Amino acid sequence: MPKICKVTDKLGRTFEYNEGLEGVIATSSEICFIDGEKGKLLYRGIPIEQLAEHSTFEETSFFLLYGHLPSRDELEAYESRLKSYRPITGEILEFARKLGSLAKPMHLLRTIVSAAGVFDPDADNNSIERNAARAEELIALFPTIVAALQRLQQGKEPIAPNPDLGHAANFLYMLNGEQPNDYAARVFDICLILHAEHGFNASTFTARAVISTLTDMYSAVTAAIGSLKGPLHGGANEGVMHLLNEIGEIERTEEVVLEKLRTKTKIMGFGHRVYKALDPRAKILMQFSEKLAQLTGNEKYYNISKKVEEIMAREVGAKGIYPNVDFFSASVYHYLGIDTSLFTPIFAVSRVSGWTAHVLEQLHNNRLLRPRAVYLGEFDRSYIPMSER
Ligand code: CMC
Repeated sequence: MPKICKVTDKLGRTFEYNEGLEGVIATSSEICFIDGEKGKLLYRGIPIEQLAEHSTFEETSFFLLYGHLPSRDELEAYESRLKSYRPITGEILEFARKLGSLAKPMHLLRTIVSAAGVFDPDADNNSIERNAARAEELIALFPTIVAALQRLQQGKEPIAPNPDLGHAANFLYMLNGEQPNDYAARVFDICLILHAEHGFNASTFTARAVISTLTDMYSAVTAAIGSLKGPLHGGANEGVMHLLNEIGEIERTEEVVLEKLRTKTKIMGFGHRVYKALDPRAKILMQFSEKLAQLTGNEKYYNISKKVEEIMAREVGAKGIYPNVDFFSASVYHYLGIDTSLFTPIFAVSRVSGWTAHVLEQLHNNRLLRPRAVYLGEFDRSYIPMSER
């Protein structure tokens, strides 16, 4: 049940509101359905399990943007457009080089996407055609930007995208110049599918609120990246890895988790505003974590994760707090050899498809998103000149 806040203002008027906008319906959408009680997630009507099993990120992102599963020809044309948009322009690369070693990846990604708007002379063109093309450009560009930033931070030259590889495999290739094996590429592809869309989460709502002023897509996506970065949202996946490292040995799991619960410190990767049952994405990611643990011969992170899950179920499961998408994605990315500092940027690499689909949908039938707050401040104050304060 939403936390209802009842407040009385200084004029004696009483108001009620749902704290944190919990359960509030802001608009309508045809993109995503979530049943938080049953742990169900559908993208445009198709269960996430089916997309994870049968689809690719390219096909899923097309489906999110355009509302229908592509024909073979449509998919091939879309894939080839994405490939053609992958390389980053000289201006963006130069800008990335200047910023390269200065900040953390999410700050850099946000700033570079904002700069991409500066370098696009047509940035304010909000026509349907231009925004659809821009959505595809951003989906294609994000992996190249994130991989280039990582390379520059390591003092290495960025690796050019490989047009022979699909979206997921190419990203892994651009990190270290090695073509991933088919299993690693497919697991990563499924991770991208699972993170692509999730209704009115904080970053998507941010993107929709920003575009509802009829500004431009770069502004909406830049703001969404800033929102995703927070530890209560996409930043949680890095927090999970830090937790697993803090625990270090499975024998310490009980002690660390109980101490955090005692001191009311949130356990990253658990709990959700909408799911009060197991997040269906976590179920899929848990299986990949287990398999990768076996394949890499490094079961520590999977075993600690399972132990944390067991303790949390015992301690707070009755409150509906279960693993969310971020919990098992942390060990999966780790097993895939990805640096922890890239976990949240990778979330953005995937979610940019959901953000841009929502931007297109918002523009299709736009009304300014502009809620109100209850004013609890003073009413009867007068200006006091500086000399009398
Ligand atoms: N660890 C321990 N206790 C928790 C947790 C957690 N991860 N999540 C919620 N609770 C408790 C919380 O302390 C509170 O208890 P009480 O009622 O006794 O005070 C109760 O559950 C309700 O918590 P809330 O913070 O009011 O719930 P919310 O709907 O505002 O928060 C949330 C949702 C995701 C922000 C929260 O569960 C959380 O902070 N989780 C950890 C961060 C995280 O994993 N974020 C990723 C979210 S899902 C994917 C994504 O968006 O990136």
